[in-house]
Amino acid sequence: MRVIESISEMQQQADSWRRQELTIGLVPTMGYLHQGHLALVQKAIDLADRVVVSIFVNPTQFGPNEDFERYPQDIPRDLRLLDELGVAAVFKPDAASIYPQGYQTYVEVQQLTQPLCGHTRPTHFRGVTTVVNKLFNITKPHLAIFGEKDFQQLVTIQRMVSDLNMDVEILGHPIVRESDGLAMSSRNVYLNAEQRQTALRLSQALEQARRLVSGGERQPQAILEKVKNHLLEGGGITIDYVELCHLDTLQPVTSLERPGLLAMAAFVGPARLLDNCILTPPGAGLHDRTQ
Ligand code: PAJ
Repeated sequence: MRVIESISEMQQQADSWRRQELTIGLVPTMGYLHQGHLALVQKAIDLADRVVVSIFVNPTQFGPNEDFERYPQDIPRDLRLLDELGVAAVFKPDAASIYPQGYQTYVEVQQLTQPLCGHTRPTHFRGVTTVVNKLFNITKPHLAIFGEKDFQQLVTIQRMVSDLNMDVEILGHPIVRESDGLAMSSRNVYLNAEQRQTALRLSQALEQARRLVSGGERQPQAILEKVKNHLLEGGGITIDYVELCHLDTLQPVTSLERPGLLAMAAFVGPARLLDNCILTPPGAGLHDRTQ
């Protein structure tokens, strides 16, 4: 496995693979890898001839009071895990080469980035789309894989690629969970034992919503109230948002007639955790996705 830090070397490697008609799959990450990341990497390995994983803690997607400075890192472990899976190259640039002095170009997806995480993180997605765009230009992938845990990120990137006619296929991957239901996240390391237990209420609340919907409930207000009550019961959680929205526009739904996204962000101790699921009312299959 090659570990490449230089942008031009990465571009040359990608050009060389493309000349040999090898397909390139990219999995962008910020490192401190867990089984969720590795599932995306495995999918890329199944689909592409050469897989590149980028590890870059992207400063432009963090707000001023967020965890950029203390974002967890374990590069030796990450490299070992990726090597074992059969990754062809890890692209691991430093911030000064991605954002050199004088840098002033950003990519912004407008509407999709406003709701949900956009409320508390108004500049976050601009940082994400900008760096992902740069990573595409550097690693030249035929396909790239993103997790559904960050559902808003996934649809935002799909929109960017479609709006800008970018020649790369974007694929999603379902949320990978711990055996007790907690969605895997690099930020789970911030939780102490008690907070780790409290954090289970996120996935439990989603489960409860699923049960309500399969029992016939279609009123967003009723579903959201039960979900919020479950999150807050027992304390230790501050809700950032809980919303039921359209899968494609992320705008709130007024009645759950078709599959909708139940998305939440909540603070548990020092960690801001995300989770979501798709709620499908009985009788409405995924082919009824359009609004
Ligand atoms: P990071 O949080 O490291 O996540 C990298 C990828 O792994 C993202 O596509 C994310 O959705 C996916 N992922 C994380 N936890 C997951 C889980 N439990 N199940 C499934 N997929 C999961 O997301 C980012 O980095 C950054 O914003 C990035 C896209 C790299 C741009 O900087």
